[in-house]
Amino acid sequence: MQKRETWATRIGLVFAAAGNAIGLGNLLRFPSKVALYGGGAFIIPYFISFFLLGIPLMILEWTIGRYAGSKGHGSMIGIMGEFFNHSYLARIIGSLGVAIPFLIVCYYIYIESWTLGFAFLSLFQKLPLPTQTGDPQLMMMPFLKFYKSYTQPSFWAVLFLIITLVINWYILNRGIIRGIEITAKIGIPALLLMGVFLSFVSLSINDWKGLEGLCFIFKPDFSRLLDPQVWVEASGQIFFTLSLAMGAIATYASYVKKNEDVLKTGLYTAGLNEFVEIVIGASIAIPAAFAMFGASSIPELAKEGTFRIGFMSMPAILMALPFGSYLSFIWFFLLFIAALTSSLALSQPLVALFEDELKFPRSKAVNVSMIMISIGAFFSAFVPDFLDELDFWAGTLFLIVFGFIEILAFVWIFGVENFYRELTRDVFFKIPKTMVYIFYGASSIFIGVLFYFWTTVKLPEYLGQISWNLIISRGFIITSLLILILIAIESKKYINS
Ligand code: TRP
Repeated sequence: MQKRETWATRIGLVFAAAGNAIGLGNLLRFPSKVALYGGGAFIIPYFISFFLLGIPLMILEWTIGRYAGSKGHGSMIGIMGEFFNHSYLARIIGSLGVAIPFLIVCYYIYIESWTLGFAFLSLFQKLPLPTQTGDPQLMMMPFLKFYKSYTQPSFWAVLFLIITLVINWYILNRGIIRGIEITAKIGIPALLLMGVFLSFVSLSINDWKGLEGLCFIFKPDFSRLLDPQVWVEASGQIFFTLSLAMGAIATYASYVKKNEDVLKTGLYTAGLNEFVEIVIGASIAIPAAFAMFGASSIPELAKEGTFRIGFMSMPAILMALPFGSYLSFIWFFLLFIAALTSSLALSQPLVALFEDELKFPRSKAVNVSMIMISIGAFFSAFVPDFLDELDFWAGTLFLIVFGFIEILAFVWIFGVENFYRELTRDVFFKIPKTMVYIFYGASSIFIGVLFYFWTTVKLPEYLGQISWNLIISRGFIITSLLILILIAIESKKYINS
C-alpha cells in the first residue's frame, strides 16, 4: 500500500479543518438566513440543529475518516467500502458522497472567482463608483455591470474564473502538507484578522448605527418557530456551514495520524466555525446595510439572496467610507480566502478518489479532478439556472439524504458497539455509551422529519418547473453520478493490490 500523507502539525490540521468549514456560508449565507427567517428566533432551531445534527455528524465524520484513512481510503467510496467489506453496494452508495462535494464545488468555485475579481477591481478602483444617493437600488446599479447576471459573465469574469481554477489546481497539486495545510496556516489567521477588523468597521458606521443593526438581526420573532420552513432552513444552514453530510470532513480526517484525538479536532472545527459565523458573519454585511439604508431595507435585501448584499450593497457601503476602495478590497479578499480554503476541501474528495481507489499518482489525480471541476464551473458560468439547480439538489436535498445514510450506515448498521470502540479510541474524553444512543437516535429522527418536510413541501414546488436549462443541469447531475458509480465499481479490483 502506498503511504498516504498526514497533516504535519496539530495547528495546521485544526486550521485546515476550520478552513474547510468556514466559507461563504458563514459570511453571506448565514446573515441573510437569520434576517429572513425570524431573527433571534432562527437561532433557536439553529442551535438545536447544531447540537442534534452538527456535533454528532461532525464527530462521526472525523471518526470514520481516521479509521478509513489508516487503511488507505479517503473518499466516501473507499470509506463506505472499508466499513462494509468493499461490497459493490457500499461503494455505489458511497459515490453519492463523492458526487455531492464535486457538484457543489462546480458552482462554489465560480462564486469564489467573483470574490477574487471584485477584490482586484476594488483595489485598482475599477469597480464602477456608486451613485451618491441614499436609495439602495440606485446605489447598486453600477455593480451590475460587471456581471450582467450570473450567466452573462464579462471578459473579466471569465478571466478571474480561470485564475481561480489555476490557483486551486496549483495548491492541490502541492499536496496535503505543502498545499492545503500551508494555505490554511496563512489564510485562517489572516481571515480572522480581516474579519474582526471589518466587523469593527461595519458596526461603527454612522456613529455605531451598525451596532443597532446587529441587535436588529438577533431580535426574536417567536411566531416564526411554528413555521416548518424555518426549521428546515436552520438545519440546512448547519449542514452547509459545517461542511457536513458530504464526506468532505471525512476526507480531511483521513489524513490524520493514526492516534489523533478526533473528538477534540472535531469540536475545535465546530467551535471556530461558529465563532466566525455568529460573531464575525453576523457583524459585517447586515449591520453595514442597516446603518446605511435603515431597517426597512434589510428584509428586501435579504430576500433577493445573499449575493445582493455581499456583492452589491457591501462595496457601495464601503466605498462611501474613507479609504473605501481598500475596505472593499479587504471585504472581497476576506471572502476569497474563506472560499478558497473551502473549495480546496470540496475538491479533495475527488482527488482522494483517484489517488486511493484508482492508484493515480497525485498530479494525475489532481489534473483529472480539475478538468472535471473546470467543466462544471464553466457550465455554472454560462448555463442559466445551473447554479441554483445544483445548489438545490446537491447543496440541500442530497445533504439530508446523505446525512441520514451516514448515521444509518456507520452507527446503526456498522453497529453501536463497533462505532463506539472507534469513537473512544485515543480521545481526551470517553463519551458514555448511552449518549451515543441518545444523540444518534435523536439525529436520526430529526433528519427523518426534515426529509419528510423537504419531500412534501419543497420538492413538488421544484419538480413542477421544466426548461432546457433545467434539463441540462439535471443531466449534468445524473451524468456525474453515473460516472462516479462506474468508478466505484471499476476500482474495486484495485483493493489489496
Ligand atoms: N462550509 C462551507 C461554507 O460555509 C461550504 C461547504 C459546504 C463546504 N460543504 C462543504 C466546504 C464541504 C468544504 C467542503 O461556505
